[in-house]
Amino acid sequence: MSNPTYSPGVEQYVAKGQQMMTAVANQRAIMKAKKFDTIAVHGVYNAEAALANQGSIIEPAYLSPAQHFENSDHMEAALAYLMPSWTYSRIANPTVGYLEETLSLLEGYGYDGEVSSCVTSSGMSAVFMATNPFLANPEPGTNIVVSAKCYGGSFMLFGERYGRERGIEVRWVADPLNNDEWAEKIDAQTRFVFGEMPSNPGLSLMDIPAVAELAHAVGAPLIVDSTVATPALMRPLTMGADIVVHSVSKSMATSGFAIAGASLPSTTSSARWGQTSCGKILPCTSSCCRSAIMVPASARSTR
Ligand SMILES: Cc1ncc(COP(=O)(O)O)c(C=O)c1O
Repeated sequence: MSNPTYSPGVEQYVAKGQQMMTAVANQRAIMKAKKFDTIAVHGVYNAEAALANQGSIIEPAYLSPAQHFENSDHMEAALAYLMPSWTYSRIANPTVGYLEETLSLLEGYGYDGEVSSCVTSSGMSAVFMATNPFLANPEPGTNIVVSAKCYGGSFMLFGERYGRERGIEVRWVADPLNNDEWAEKIDAQTRFVFGEMPSNPGLSLMDIPAVAELAHAVGAPLIVDSTVATPALMRPLTMGADIVVHSVSKSMATSGFAIAGASLPSTTSSARWGQTSCGKILPCTSSCCRSAIMVPASARSTR
């Protein structure tokens, strides 16, 4: 297939987009080298961003549903994913983008790999977004292995929605600190392994490195809900987990400021789920398929 050609006007925006991406990558690298507390306060928001936002010293809340473009070349470059843009707030929004950048820096603090971030409308939405793509095209024997010591909403999602309604075999681990129980239940048809560390409300614990090893032995990702700990106290990716989920509604938003969630996959953990549903290798800069960034090889479409 030949490379598509673009008008000089569009090419100008493509070049501008490359400069924008370089600036973001540089700022990310600068902040990555800072201490945890500095990152928590500033994220990637700097003086330059403040001046571009009428001098606002904190990230402004953008309430606009959509983005205005300078002209049709700008719009073409943006809608063809040739340059960064946010276009439409359901897909991306600058305010949410700042939060995503901050969370991925915090969750990735001390982690060697790269961390992506998708902020959602609630913690339950994040749990759903992080787990549902793995259940595409289930086969006989498809199962999930999950800690029974988990938040009620997750318990219902796994047991009722995935188990009873969709017929996925849900293998509950009654004692998440018992590695033998995880080992007994995980097999080659396990699509994902899920635990909360510590759990809400029971504060049950699990051995993340040991369970990650068991999951990886069969090519399954370990997904950890780390809501209660927050990245200030524990960062599961540094211990072998592949995806971290948060209810941002809790400690991270001082339990009362907002309802939000986040799914934070390591984009360097494994080729098996490091691909988007359209086959692009992560990290993918397109905003088209942010809700389907983790698809197991067996369920990937061939288009
Ligand atoms: C550990 C944990 N995960 C997920 C959720 C769901 O989050 P949300 O209420 O933001 O949907 C909660 C909520 O209490 C929780 O405690």
